[in-house]
Amino acid sequence: MSFAEDSSIHFSDFPTDQLIELSYVSQSSNDMGILGLMNLLEDAVHKNKRAGVTGVLFYDNGIFGQIMEGYPEHLERIWKSIAADARHKDIQVLGINPLSKRRFSNWSMKFYGSDEISQYVPELKMGLKDAAASLPSEILTLMRSVSNQAEEINPSNQSSQNNSANQSRL
Ligand SMILES: Cc1cc2nc3c(=O)[nH]c(=O)nc-3n(C[C@H](O)[C@H](O)[C@H](O)COP(=O)(O)O)c2cc1C
Repeated sequence: MSFAEDSSIHFSDFPTDQLIELSYVSQSSNDMGILGLMNLLEDAVHKNKRAGVTGVLFYDNGIFGQIMEGYPEHLERIWKSIAADARHKDIQVLGINPLSKRRFSNWSMKFYGSDEISQYVPELKMGLKDAAASLPSEILTLMRSVSNQAEEINPSNQSSQNNSANQSRL
């Protein structure tokens, strides 16, 4: 599997007003407990909201998968923090693509833990578990697919400004 190296992400290749989507999978350095995930999400939601970044984060069995959407300079800043974050390792970029419209416009960072993955996108379990044997495009397609469900799960709580119910689903 040929994942892009971190250094191959050239945010400046994109016009400053071009929405882009950045996706990756990674391995948690230690087992993330509920509190650890909640702390991480709280940080992420807060910072993403300020930077106008939206997306989805998956966590199952020690593996993260994430899609982030936003403008290059904002994503670059956040990506620097994420890439240097000791809570995960073996970061494998799936892709960086121009985007005409956000898929997760209502979510500063929608979260899917093991239960939600089993329920809504079970095929992704295998994709994340054996990311090295999967095609990056297949994992990305599965991760994107939940954007259709992002509003059905919490119909009364679609706003990215109030995702406490979302976080309590950990
Ligand atoms: C798997 C994973 C996903 C993360 N996702 C985000 C994110 O979407 N947005 C964000 O601001 N921080 C995210 N973080 C946290 C950042 O790495 C960092 O801790 C946070 O942005 C605070 O960084 P700072 O101390 O440099 O401001 C994530 C961390 C991990 C391990």
